[in-house]
Amino acid sequence: MFRFENLDARIAGAPMAGGTSTPQLTAAVSNAGGLGFYGGAYLSPDQLRDVVREIRALTDAPFGVNLFVPEEIPFDAAAFAAYREQLLPLARRLGTDLPEAVPYTDDSFEGKIQVLIDERVPVVSFTFGCADAATIARLHRADVFVAGTVTSVAEAMIAHDAGVDGLCAQGIAAGGHRATYRILDDDPAIETRPLTAAVVEATGLPVIAAGGVRSRDDVVALLEAGAVAVQVGTLLLRCPEAGTKQAHRDALVDPRFSETATTRAYSGRLARGLVNDFIEANTASAPPVYPQVNTLTGAIRRAGATDPEVINLWAGIGFRAAQAIPAADVVAGLAR
Ligand SMILES: Cc1cc2nc3c(=O)[nH]c(=O)nc-3n(C[C@H](O)[C@H](O)[C@H](O)COP(=O)(O)O)c2cc1C
Repeated sequence: MFRFENLDARIAGAPMAGGTSTPQLTAAVSNAGGLGFYGGAYLSPDQLRDVVREIRALTDAPFGVNLFVPEEIPFDAAAFAAYREQLLPLARRLGTDLPEAVPYTDDSFEGKIQVLIDERVPVVSFTFGCADAATIARLHRADVFVAGTVTSVAEAMIAHDAGVDGLCAQGIAAGGHRATYRILDDDPAIETRPLTAAVVEATGLPVIAAGGVRSRDDVVALLEAGAVAVQVGTLLLRCPEAGTKQAHRDALVDPRFSETATTRAYSGRLARGLVNDFIEANTASAPPVYPQVNTLTGAIRRAGATDPEVINLWAGIGFRAAQAIPAADVVAGLAR
């Protein structure tokens, strides 16, 4: 079984579901000696199988796939309807409509687990919660190294007790969705360094630190805090291998976008992105209704795909350090 501790470069490339992860990006990070992750959320099991095979065709090195763990909570129809009303004028302006009813989806979690087992993917990581002990045991029987993403020591202990082999400690500076286990929970909002140290201390598991990494100095500081490796997402957003939309790439270097914030405005779950008009207009009133709000805003995000004031510009606080260079150069610039 592959292990985090075997990762000589000490660098992982974050899973980035929703179009940013590509087989090319994952393979490029792994071929450079890092651990490339692919964000498998939002794909069907068949699509995920094709992706895994494409990554395998591009690299012989270990790689990981990340899944969102589903949590079905009672649907707040009134909050959903009110948010839909609020978004309708924007949708109409963009020439689209918004669905009145959106079904719950578990994102085909079980089907994708079976694909990852069948394909014997070297590493599987989870976010938005931890898979249960039985699922982790099934992955182990297929020789899969299982990791849980956590934002607090309490979440780390749950993952530890479920039997994970390693953890990814996601600090508050991180770009994209917060890994926070429960949809309704407040964000623990812990900085990457103290979170890493506390999670290592509490669990004794190998920990990959993530969130806000800009430079090799940041990597060294997190390794000193006890991490076995460091995961970067934002630093890969401008790489040619990434699937990042052009409007998103441009926004990362546009002086108009100068800060990031966490918001439920796009999906109903907290995520960090560059502050744009959509975040400013909707953060205060966005309800914690996931995944239905994610599906709701999908029409807007597709219709406004070239407009940085509309789409989600996921980014961590280190976004100005992201360079338009190959992923191998990002890994080489950070690795020891
Ligand atoms: C565009 C984008 C998409 C992301 N998608 C996922 C995902 O699908 N699964 C996941 O566990 N983390 C996801 N993340 C979070 C990363 O795993 C990681 O925690 C974060 O990128 C680290 O912080 P940094 O962006 O400051 O490097 C995403 C981050 C970004 C920027």
